[in-house]
Amino acid sequence: MRPLLIAGNWKCHLRHASARRLAEEVRQGLPQIDGILVALCPAFVHIPPVKEVIKGSPIILGAQDLHWQDDVAATGEVGPSMLAEWVEVVIIGHSERRRLFGESDEVVNRKVKAALQAGMRPILCIGETLEERQRGDTFIVLARQLEGALAQVDSPEGIVIAYEPVWAIGTHMAATGPQAQEVALFIRSWIGKKWDPQCADSVIILYGGSVTPQNMAEFATQPDIDGALVGGASLDSRSFLGIIAEAARAKGKPWGS
Ligand code: 13P
Repeated sequence: MRPLLIAGNWKCHLRHASARRLAEEVRQGLPQIDGILVALCPAFVHIPPVKEVIKGSPIILGAQDLHWQDDVAATGEVGPSMLAEWVEVVIIGHSERRRLFGESDEVVNRKVKAALQAGMRPILCIGETLEERQRGDTFIVLARQLEGALAQVDSPEGIVIAYEPVWAIGTHMAATGPQAQEVALFIRSWIGKKWDPQCADSVIILYGGSVTPQNMAEFATQPDIDGALVGGASLDSRSFLGIIAEAARAKGKPWGS
């Protein structure tokens, strides 16, 4: 049985005090959770204070990116070993990094391998643009991104894959449940063909893009979707906790017992 995973991607938001406050509110609002993984992914500078706030709670700490090499002349970057001292998971290949910073599938691949090597769990993001979807190229694009990101990876076990259609991110135009399920099934089948069906069955697949407490159940009721990567709605503790509660309910996980 795959766990439910809800991860908050705080992107380039918050300040020291507001990051601490948000983490504290999420911590306080989380009841006993069983079979549910909750992760917070603040900006690098907010990782140490958030770590302090969530100490002793089940909340998992994550980062939003990493560099693929340790101890090199790479001004401004954070290497895998130094990051692994702080976080358990790391978002890799987010469409904002691909679009704003020109990250290629090859760079994403280096980062995935470096994260695994350093003992972190990558949350690999893939997704098509609106133009690619309208051209009917969705599955071609996703297969290319998967192939590129997972080249020379021995096993996908431990890797989380987030399907984030670019057109749904920050637009209030979420995909529909069936659209997301179709892609999640495609991803699982792709992994099954590249490795084996058993390991495909164990990979956690998330949906991301305009997730709210109102639409979470639509995704969580899909058999191949194991949770969500949440952007905007993770910046408000009430909506983030609401998303976790809705997902837990839809997946039949105990909540608040
Ligand atoms: P929104 O939830 O704000 O659409 O962002 C999704 C996302 O990019 C999460 O990584």
